Amino acid sequence: MIRSLWALAVGAAIFGAFVAPASANPAELATCAACHDLSPAKKQVVGSPLFAIYGKKPGIEGTGFAKWDKASLDKWLKSPSAVKPGTSMMFMVKNDAQRAKIIEALAELK
Ligand code: HEC
Repeated sequence: MIRSLWALAVGAAIFGAFVAPASANPAELATCAACHDLSPAKKQVVGSPLFAIYGKKPGIEGTGFAKWDKASLDKWLKSPSAVKPGTSMMFMVKNDAQRAKIIEALAELK
């Protein structure tokens, strides 16, 4: 029993190691995935779906942005509450370089 569980765990780990890179979310967006669906299924989770939002009108109200692009996403991710007081996105990316990578990954997410 214990032995087969162990085999199962190892099997799952090996399977995961091979499968994950192709199917997983981009590493830059791993923290976002805790609250956002990144897949084409576009599910509403804690936050709204992030698939193919780049270049589009914000799906949420109150940002004042016409579309999500480099500049607007940079402001949003730096401080969502500075853009939209009272927003429910309780998360920010303070590091400039990290924000730039995240925005690149969002632009590719389509
Ligand atoms: C703790 C949960 C949480 C995390 C982590 C989080 N978000 Fe959000 N996000 C939200 C919520 C909630 C909203 C909706 C905010 C509102 O309506 O005011 C939101 C909204 C957004 C929007 C607006 C979407 C639209 O439809 O216009 C973008 C863009 C966004 N988040 C990007 C990100 C990115 C990129 C990350 C990762 C770096 C991230 N979020 C991490 C909770 C989160």
